[in-house]
Amino acid sequence: MTKPNLLSGMQPSAGSLHLGNYLGALVNWANMQDDFNAYYVIVDLHAITVPQDPDELRANTRRTAAQYLAAGIDHEKSALFVQSHVPAHAELAWVLNCITGMGEAGRMTQFKDKSQKSGSDSASVGLFTYPILQAADILLYQPKAVPVGEDQRQHLELTRDLATRFNSRFGDTFTIPEAVILKETAKIYDLQNPEAKMSKSAGDPKGLINIMDDSAAVVKKIKSAVTDTDGIIQFDRETKPGISNLLGIHSAISGESISELEQRFEGAGYGALKGEVADVVVAAIEPIRNRTEELLSDPAELDRLLANGAARANELAEQTLATVYDRIGFLRSTWR
Ligand code: TYM
Repeated sequence: MTKPNLLSGMQPSAGSLHLGNYLGALVNWANMQDDFNAYYVIVDLHAITVPQDPDELRANTRRTAAQYLAAGIDHEKSALFVQSHVPAHAELAWVLNCITGMGEAGRMTQFKDKSQKSGSDSASVGLFTYPILQAADILLYQPKAVPVGEDQRQHLELTRDLATRFNSRFGDTFTIPEAVILKETAKIYDLQNPEAKMSKSAGDPKGLINIMDDSAAVVKKIKSAVTDTDGIIQFDRETKPGISNLLGIHSAISGESISELEQRFEGAGYGALKGEVADVVVAAIEPIRNRTEELLSDPAELDRLLANGAARANELAEQTLATVYDRIGFLRSTWR
């Protein structure tokens, strides 16, 4: 039996992935690659929707690839590739731009948040059409499943809408994908501001745990996580966001349920919980960091793996794009 397809991606917009990327997406990606024919993409085209330094982008693209591999993505099972290496992404995005309404694109909350941060006038048109490029990333690979964190839900809905619209106008072309969002890890919160999601663009770097942070820094950040003053270790997102986040992180990594943790920590102080969360997080990310450094010491080998991944991805992407071009009414190209 052939396995269903899966696609997901991450931006190479920092030198390190953070704990939200790792728990919200990457762990799930590694777990799903046996049951799916998986495509994992490093979305460098998306990374230039905000100003980027070219040398940093190059370095971060390799660093992101190395972190995927170090966290358990197997390049033989899954196609691991860089978005700009597969031309069909930008080409399908153009077609999808032409079936997306301005109002529809204007409702995307991530655009609103990001453009507000940079001031709406300086936000690029690329940032505005970002979710449409994301839809192209997905639809090229005919995936059934798209494992992501909660913040991507709206983009997945747009992707489904565009696929459905295209299919009904031009005939069945795209598989309608499902977002796979695991409840427990859908949203990891900022340690300093536990009502906001952990994000690389967060105001205070102390709230953000990077996979590439050294262990001492990780421990320090967790020990200074914002909590509350009632001294009870209990999960309640509304009234105890800081403690709930720590319990959620512990549980996601250790596999111990929240209620087991609540029982075990009954009567204990916040310091004890933080100490254990720090141990659990360090034990999870230290080997990934070390393996990432090892992989980065051989950039030629990394580039070779990425080239293989792109060749695999390109095959399917070209097939889908050819069908799309045909259905739209473009004349067949003679050289492609
Ligand atoms: P990006 O690069 O911001 O994040 C990558 C993945 O990490 C998840 N994530 C989180 N999960 C839980 N808690 C958090 N605090 C947290 N922060 C981030 C995100 O939900 C995501 O799954 N637009 C996408 C990249 C993209 C993409 C795609 C994703 C482009 N094309 C196609 C899937 C399919 C983004 O910016 O992710």
